[in-house]
Amino acid sequence: ALRASIVPKAQKSSQRSTNHFSPQASYKVAILGAAGGIGQPLSLLVKMSPLVSDLHLYDIANVKGVAADLSHCNTPSRVLDFTGEAELANALQGVDVVVIPAGVPRKPGMTRDDLFNINASIVKKLVEAVADNCPNAFIHIISNPVNSTVPIAAEVLKQKGVYDPKKLFGVTTLDVVRANTFVAQKKNLKLVDVDVPVVGGHAGITILPLLSKTKPSVSFTDEEVQELTVRIQNAGTEVVEAKAGAGSATLSMAYAAARFVESSLRALDGDSDVYECTFVESELTELPFFASRVKLGKNGVEAIISSDLQGLTEYEQKAVEALKPELKASIEKGIAFAQKQP
Ligand code: NAD
Ligand code: LMR
Repeated sequence: ALRASIVPKAQKSSQRSTNHFSPQASYKVAILGAAGGIGQPLSLLVKMSPLVSDLHLYDIANVKGVAADLSHCNTPSRVLDFTGEAELANALQGVDVVVIPAGVPRKPGMTRDDLFNINASIVKKLVEAVADNCPNAFIHIISNPVNSTVPIAAEVLKQKGVYDPKKLFGVTTLDVVRANTFVAQKKNLKLVDVDVPVVGGHAGITILPLLSKTKPSVSFTDEEVQELTVRIQNAGTEVVEAKAGAGSATLSMAYAAARFVESSLRALDGDSDVYECTFVESELTELPFFASRVKLGKNGVEAIISSDLQGLTEYEQKAVEALKPELKASIEKGIAFAQKQP
């Protein structure tokens, strides 16, 4: 009940999992960038999970206090802190899920791609350490630009000979969280019932909500589709502008990331009815990576839900084609970066 109230699970989960599933704290989660704007509230939400036995908080600074503070919460998990590169390997020992929100956020006027020069190197270094220390872990990449940082991570893991495409995820849950919120508001629906798949990638027009696939079934006018699609695509910028130089979404992002962590842990724990949208290696389109709904299982992605891309409206079909060039370029930029680095 605690779990359900703090981090609502993905819409598709069965009744069985809520009513008869009594979770045991047994999984280790590491958060890299744990002292940051996302890292702190995310650490708090993960600390509340009954599935977590050990929470490893890593950052280059300021993580000791965050860990001391959190460790006083009387929830099952043990909290350990790790500061700086010398402690990174220890932070990753025996870990089942690694979440990476390390890196710089946007300021007004910037695109996510403007973060590439700094964040690409940060993600590369961290994923190298993941490859060396917990190559079987699920890896959740939050650091932007996700459309490039996930391909970078894949290349690094390939170079290290440990790439498992089923276990590398770009976190796009926030796009779904936003789509659900905005659609429920617009159509006056009960929020808990609304589920909108969001596909493509995680920047601008590459974020594509499939409003025609909204559950429960809802009809939208052309104007509503246009307005909602643009709002969902620009929601990150909406927050960046409101924060006026103090960063980007942190609290809603922590909420979304905690939902994705909880879904991953439930899948690892044998729940056979876990679905989330995420940016993964995919054969759904001709692009090597694409966000869509996937079924999660003990070994990561168990299936990519291809039916979401079938029976699209003309607007959605055109939008899928329109996003491909930008997404392709961002993927290729990430791959080229990882391949040219020593
Ligand atoms: P922040 O600056 O508040 O925190 C980032 C943290 O990363 C800091 O504590 C910093 O010390 C740490 N860090 C920097 N280099 C590091 C390294 N080498 N190893 C470990 N930690 C390191 O930023 P934030 O608001 O938490 O955002 C973090 C990232 O998440 C940004 O790139 C942002 O664009 C991205 N983001 C993604 C989504 C999404 O939907 N995927 C949503 C929001 C933000
Ligand atoms: C978001 O969607 O909120 C994040 O990607 C952060 C950003 O830069 O918009």
